[in-house]
Amino acid sequence: MILVLIGYMASGKSTIGRILAKKLDYDFIDLDDFIEEKEKMAVSSVFKTKGEIYFRKIESQYLKEIISEKANIVLSLGGGTPCYNSNMDVILNANNVKSVYLKASIKTLIDRLKNEKSKRPLVAHIETDEVLTEFIGKHLFERGQYYNQASKVVSTDDKAETVIIDELLFELF
Ligand code: S3P
Repeated sequence: MILVLIGYMASGKSTIGRILAKKLDYDFIDLDDFIEEKEKMAVSSVFKTKGEIYFRKIESQYLKEIISEKANIVLSLGGGTPCYNSNMDVILNANNVKSVYLKASIKTLIDRLKNEKSKRPLVAHIETDEVLTEFIGKHLFERGQYYNQASKVVSTDDKAETVIIDELLFELF
């Protein structure tokens, strides 16, 4: 089985994914790390030198490659992955995949992203908390229609990692 974790930037996909994989004795793959390894370049450099359209193209290709070739993994996606090309259909139509949306409130996301902007090309240029709040609010609203198609939705606000993991395991098995 492949467990796919979906959610906005800084929603905890990689942190939760790593712990979950260990618990299930699965391998863990972070799609951004996978892309960086394959392209031999940081995601922020791919955006800068080749542009977002190129990034979205390879992101879809690597997603398909992982889903068709791997088994027994927890796969954490990039925040935008489900929202481009036919990625969400690929996830929903694969019979070996279960998907979970790690849902975090705008406030939680802002508190985390404020301090983690630099590696994220979509928000790195935003200077004030006010503009960041407006950006995330709109962006999350647009992306919600994709995220909410996941097989399960788990709210993560104010929950310890262990609680989130227990809820995920309960929902999935
Ligand atoms: C993106 C999220 C990033 C990364 C890229 C684009 C997005 O991943 O894939 O910067 O469109 O939301 P994280 O969600 O791991 O930050």
